Amino acid sequence: MGSTIEMQLAGRTAFVTGGAQGIGAAVVRAFAGAGARVCVADIDGERARALAGDVGGGAIGVACNVAKRDDVERAVAEAIARFARIDILVNNAGIIRPAMLHKMTDEEWNAVLDVHLAGSFHGLQAVAPAMMERRYGRIVNVTSTAGVQGTIGQINYSAAKAGIVGLTMSAARELAPYNITVNAVAPGAATSMTETIRTDSRFRDKYLARIPLGRWAEPAEIAPVFVFFASDAASYVTGQVLAADGGMTIR
Ligand SMILES: NC(=O)c1ccc[n+]([C@@H]2O[C@H](COP(=O)([O-])OP(=O)(O)OC[C@H]3O[C@@H](n4cnc5c(N)ncnc54)[C@H](O)[C@@H]3O)[C@@H](O)[C@H]2O)c1
Repeated sequence: MGSTIEMQLAGRTAFVTGGAQGIGAAVVRAFAGAGARVCVADIDGERARALAGDVGGGAIGVACNVAKRDDVERAVAEAIARFARIDILVNNAGIIRPAMLHKMTDEEWNAVLDVHLAGSFHGLQAVAPAMMERRYGRIVNVTSTAGVQGTIGQINYSAAKAGIVGLTMSAARELAPYNITVNAVAPGAATSMTETIRTDSRFRDKYLARIPLGRWAEPAEIAPVFVFFASDAASYVTGQVLAADGGMTIR
């Protein structure tokens, strides 16, 4: 049996979007390790199911494109059919479509806004009504240093991630009377999303120099922040953005 800290999500159920790899997969593993039953929802359904099988503890995997409302509603219904309820939502799914401002197409702009911003909105709307009825919920969104400081070559991503900060604070205010907390994590980790800026010699040294801790985190190092927001240890914390970014956003 685990200690109190290890089992701080015992008996809880969670829905994690983009959970098949990277930070999402680390969150799935940490949640399962903390005692939660987890629904891994990812556009890559095969990978989501494989991870669910690997972590065990009653985890399930479902194919879900968060940009599509119907898909999110269907995936949430599948999770509820299995778990009876969803206590924790993590809106983590993400993509990048980098291009300089003057070259960015509508397609690149819309793709990123649809997955990050509309995707988080779809997740919120799919789980919030039942959470409101039960007077309990923990929602964790994922923003980025790009959303609070801006970045070069990703105006779509920065705008979406800044939008997620606003969405987090507004949802936190609206849902607080129902004992539902809504917070956001601004991570920095070695995943496929950051591969180019970590390995390409044109970017590597410049980006590393921006991190006071002097290294990229493994996704598993970021996951405990999600466990904290999802747990009752954070029962009085809402509407906050916590940067787990090696100090990149120290001002
Ligand atoms: N890695 C970092 O340093 C960093 C920094 C800031 C923010 N983030 C954010 O963290 C989150 C996770 O990123 P990551 O680094 O683990 O990236 P990743 O590319 O490793 O993982 C993203 C996951 O999202 C899934 N996905 C993509 N589009 C989807 C869709 N439409 N519907 C459902 N799932 C979809 C992918 O299949 C993948 O499993 C993202 O929101 C990202 O913007 C990451």
